[in-house]
Amino acid sequence: MGNDNNIYPVFDKMLNRADKEALLGQRGLMVWFTGLSGSGKSTVAIALERELQQRGILCRLLDGDNIRTGINNNLGFSEADRMENIRRIAEVSRLFVDTGIVTLAAFISPLQSMRSMAADIIGHDDFVEIYISTPVEECERRDVKGLYARARRGEIKDFTGISAPFEAPQNPALTIDTSRVTLQQSVETILQLILPKIAQRKHGKLE
Ligand code: ADX
Repeated sequence: MGNDNNIYPVFDKMLNRADKEALLGQRGLMVWFTGLSGSGKSTVAIALERELQQRGILCRLLDGDNIRTGINNNLGFSEADRMENIRRIAEVSRLFVDTGIVTLAAFISPLQSMRSMAADIIGHDDFVEIYISTPVEECERRDVKGLYARARRGEIKDFTGISAPFEAPQNPALTIDTSRVTLQQSVETILQLILPKIAQRKHGKLE
């Protein structure tokens, strides 16, 4: 090979986000769901991912199933661990968004400070916050995983909404109460908001 480092100087540069977005024909975006356990974050995110895929948009969905069992399997539910959970999720999401991928995250992210840290890491222009505002009474009534009952019996400490705080977002892009609207309506509302943001920019203009 010798020392001809500069024969192909153009290859020295990593391709950038715009290159990736041009390849995909879409813009990267972070869609950040926040809300209580059992509020419907993952259900809405999963349905949204399918709708986007059908429209030919490449997405990546991050939720507890693929994050807390993997990269974050050493973290619990103290405030410090939740903060670290969200920090790593935000850093990983940033890589996806930087690759032009529409990234959906469904985590309780209970404190304002956690969500603003995530927005700072990812970039506020790319960050769409969606508050799944289903009331705690309804989440507890559903109790899909039986965790509210266990928290009430004192078997789980620091359970969000029961014995740990949840701060409602102050200025979310959307608020959706899944006890009041259908899944299809929720997805439609989100699509209306995000599709224009995902549309590829050409010559500085939205197509
Ligand atoms: S976060 O607070 O750090 O954002 P995350 O969304 O990753 O939480 O995980 C929440 C999920 O973990 C809940 O839906 C529930 O299934 C489970 N869980 C277990 N212990 C707790 C707890 N103490 N508080 C909230 N959720 C818990």
